[in-house]
Amino acid sequence: MNFRTVLIVINIAALAIIVGVVLYRVLSLRKNVEPTPANLDPYLNDNDLENRRLERALGWSLVFVLITALALPLYFLVEPSRQVKAEDSFLERSVERGAVLFANSQMPTYDSTKSLLCANCHGAQGEGGAAPFVLQPESDLCLVEQNKGNADVPQCLPQQVSWTAPAVNSVLQRYSRGEIKHILNYGRPGSPMPAWGIKSGKGVLNSQSIGDLVNYLASIQIADSEIKAISTEAVGEYRDGAGEVVTNAQDSLASAKQDLAEAPASSSASQLASLQVSVTTATAQLAAAEAYATEVGGLSEGAILFRLNCARCHTKGWAYYDPTNLKVPAPSPQGSGAYGPSLRDGSTKIQFPGLAGEQGQFDWVAVGVPANEAYGIRGISSGRMPHFAGMLSEAQIKAIVAYERNL
Ligand code: HEC
Ligand code: HEC
Repeated sequence: MNFRTVLIVINIAALAIIVGVVLYRVLSLRKNVEPTPANLDPYLNDNDLENRRLERALGWSLVFVLITALALPLYFLVEPSRQVKAEDSFLERSVERGAVLFANSQMPTYDSTKSLLCANCHGAQGEGGAAPFVLQPESDLCLVEQNKGNADVPQCLPQQVSWTAPAVNSVLQRYSRGEIKHILNYGRPGSPMPAWGIKSGKGVLNSQSIGDLVNYLASIQIADSEIKAISTEAVGEYRDGAGEVVTNAQDSLASAKQDLAEAPASSSASQLASLQVSVTTATAQLAAAEAYATEVGGLSEGAILFRLNCARCHTKGWAYYDPTNLKVPAPSPQGSGAYGPSLRDGSTKIQFPGLAGEQGQFDWVAVGVPANEAYGIRGISSGRMPHFAGMLSEAQIKAIVAYERNL
């Protein structure tokens, strides 16, 4: 029997006793026996009182005085650690509830009635992942009624893309707890990240559950040094990745060509045509992959760090950019604004002018200011931009700032 059940049993017993006493009183009132009034009831005489009875009463008084004398200092001594333990176990239970909310069906904490499947998009360890998303066509061409949903006008068909979901096992380095609560309550409209809070009118979580999720996220944060190592390795991986994109495209072109060459003589004209289309597509994909690799080869470290850390908000289309998926619209020019403002055409030099501005821009990107406070010349923080001092080294942030100032 755990402590909780013992408490419940004690409460039930106390309730039963109270009910019993009340019932007894009511029943005895009903019997209507007239008791002798207390003042007419003769009490014990002095001889009877001043013997064992008195000693017993005094003995009990002593016992109770001792208990009180010991219990008060003991309570005084134990209370602070009891309070700390209570806070710890309060936090522990909050993290446990958050873990259930975060889980997907492959995780041990999964509960089909409560889990919100954050892990499906953000990874089981919160290491980041991807989310399916459907892009709606934007071209003016698609305003024409007969182009809507018309398979002959492929750019007017909704397009399925894979939207990068950021790592959340480092999110407390980028945002304060309050800012994370805001993101969870309101989501990121226009991206796959849903709004979860009742506050937003779209979600189901009250402020306690939102707090549970933040406590859970805090519990899965990886070490500061590891976060910085991951951000640094990502630059090399990005460069190598471009080479892999080319190799993969070469492989698919080779196999498409082979399929066409080895097509059985009995193949129908339409089968041959579709094999030919695969070769043409793979050729175009290889050209795109090679152009991408050449572009990446010429990028500065600052430019790559920008792509890895900033572009998902500051460049429209970057979050789902895939160099070889030719159906996905190409991203807008780097840094031209999306969720975050445009940083191009010297706009950061207007917000952060001169040499002092360079330092100001560094400070903004590294630590920022709390929501509603001023930055730069006329910037007002909304608390929605993450900050990177805990993710990137000083040299890396300087490289990004230099890159931005020349966009
Ligand atoms: C359908 C996929 C999906 C689900 C489910 C989902 N997210 Fe997200 N989340 C995203 C995407 C995508 C982004 C980034 C959006 C963007 O590009 O601005 C994001 C952004 C975030 C961010 C901001 C991180 C940053 O650095 O900008 C946090 C924190 C977050 N999600 C936590 C959660 C939690 C907690 C849950 C579960 C309650 C959850 N997400 C469920 C897809 C998802
Ligand atoms: C989660 C989205 C997001 C990411 C990621 C992000 N930003 Fe921002 N950024 C914003 C928003 C939103 C603003 C507007 C200011 C605000 O709302 O507080 C902003 C503002 C800025 C500004 C000020 C622009 C101006 O003219 O006022 C600069 C500079 C900037 N970001 C640089 C960066 C850099 C560098 C990175 C990557 C290291 C980055 N941002 C990553 C969302 C983002």
